[in-house]
Amino acid sequence: MKVSILTICPDVFDSFLNMPVLARALRDGQLELEVVDIREFAPGSFRHIDDSPFGGGAGMILRCQPVLDALAAVRSPESRTVALTPSGTPYTQKHAHELAEVPHLILLCGHYEGFDARILKHADEELSIGDYILTGGETAALVLLDSIARLLPGVIRQASTEDESFEDGLLEYPQYTQPADYNGDTVPDVLLSGDHGRIRRWRRHQALRLTRARRPDLFEQLDLSDEDLALLEELPEEP
Ligand code: ADE
Repeated sequence: MKVSILTICPDVFDSFLNMPVLARALRDGQLELEVVDIREFAPGSFRHIDDSPFGGGAGMILRCQPVLDALAAVRSPESRTVALTPSGTPYTQKHAHELAEVPHLILLCGHYEGFDARILKHADEELSIGDYILTGGETAALVLLDSIARLLPGVIRQASTEDESFEDGLLEYPQYTQPADYNGDTVPDVLLSGDHGRIRRWRRHQALRLTRARRPDLFEQLDLSDEDLALLEELPEEP
């Protein structure tokens, strides 16, 4: 998969690409990354990329010409363009799976007070990573890049993504490793029992409980099986 990031801060991405999973995906060729500096498409020595908004108001707006020329330069028949904006559709794991299937993804990062609205007509969709305002779309682009890259075939073991939070609409159950007793704080007995049926039921129960307590919005959407209902009914609340 190829990802092109259109930005006015290309340096932001350098250290992030050293993160082990991304570095490996890039090295092994599952991921190809192109970081495009929008300023390169702005004319003159001033590289005029922004201007004040028509109608007045604070801040500066990214101008159509440099952004749309940069987009035209990287676009391909198989590309899909996502603009990162705080008013976009909330980004979820479902989007990550969908976008991981796209052969060429273009991520368009806004800055200052945002984009001239005419730019957004050239994007296939707008996505937001949450209900807060970032100084630029770069941090949001990194979030998408990270969550998509790890889903690409061969980047990490498939089993390790299957049981994760959000994959089946549930938050993930708690996990533990050695030692079984850390200064008196012990691992739940069931995990040391070797009884795989009990362990599976305990994990499912934990995931259901956690989701019900922390994310009632997700819990409401679950299609609970008879076994799930029985687990919630039968097993004690605390491990
Ligand atoms: N740009 C600024 N804030 C953003 C957000 N929350 N999500 C995506 N892009 C943004």
